[in-house]
Amino acid sequence: MENLTQPDSQREKQPRQKTAAQRLWSIHWWMAAVYLLLFVGGSFMADLPKEVTYRGTLYGLHKSLGVLTMGLLTARIFYLLLKLRKKKTAKRPLPNWEKIQAIALHTLLYFFMLIVPVSGWFFSNSFDKDVALFGLTLPRLFPPNKALAEVGKNLHFWLSYSFLAFIVLHTLDQRKFLRATLRRSRQAFQKRFIDP
Ligand code: HEM
Ligand code: HEM
Repeated sequence: MENLTQPDSQREKQPRQKTAAQRLWSIHWWMAAVYLLLFVGGSFMADLPKEVTYRGTLYGLHKSLGVLTMGLLTARIFYLLLKLRKKKTAKRPLPNWEKIQAIALHTLLYFFMLIVPVSGWFFSNSFDKDVALFGLTLPRLFPPNKALAEVGKNLHFWLSYSFLAFIVLHTLDQRKFLRATLRRSRQAFQKRFIDP
């Protein structure tokens, strides 16, 4: 609640409470950055020969970042529900076809954000390997089973790259936003360094 007893100058100094939509937006970009590391690192480490000394470190880092995305996803779903609850109270027009397509694509992205790290966890545990979050060993969710480990490996591979395909589709869908952001960044760069 607004503190009416404080002078204006002090009230301005208080940090503003971020809305659910703003938090959702910043989680969106943090997760996008972590996914970039997972895709680049994942495809690089999977091709490394077994003798390479830093291979284990890369696998550990990949698993930790993958688990981190699961935590971020939980926070994201929480803020999404908060945002949707607020929207529900306001009267909204019925969604048109474009809106339905966007909702379907976003739902698919959420599905992959959940299933891809779960498949990685399944692969590791069924291969009789632990999953750790930056050194903290996490519980085993799946029993060791070498026959299923091969299925898990294939599952993680195909789900990861299908996820990537939908990310590309989403980026294309948002190309207007991407173009405007690039234009703004170019203008800011020009103003700061070339034409001050
Ligand atoms: C890297 C993986 C990415 C994933 C998993 C992802 C996922 C999502 C999801 C699920 C939404 C719906 C809002 C939400 O629940 O957060 C969304 C919104 C959005 N994303 Fe992404 N995104 C990714 C990358 C990108 C990239 C690279 C761009 C740049 C073009 C982008 C631009 C946007 C925009 C502009 C929205 C808002 C759309 C709207 O509200 O109409 N996203 N994204
Ligand atoms: C959203 C999160 C994740 C993404 C996007 C992702 C993506 C990838 C990609 C692209 C590869 C390379 C596949 C290949 O080219 O063969 C890979 C490999 C791998 N990932 Fe993930 N991953 C994620 C989460 C996880 C998690 C949580 C774990 C384990 C707990 C994990 C375990 C592994 C392992 C062990 C490999 C190596 C597979 C091999 O040796 O062939 N990943 N991942």
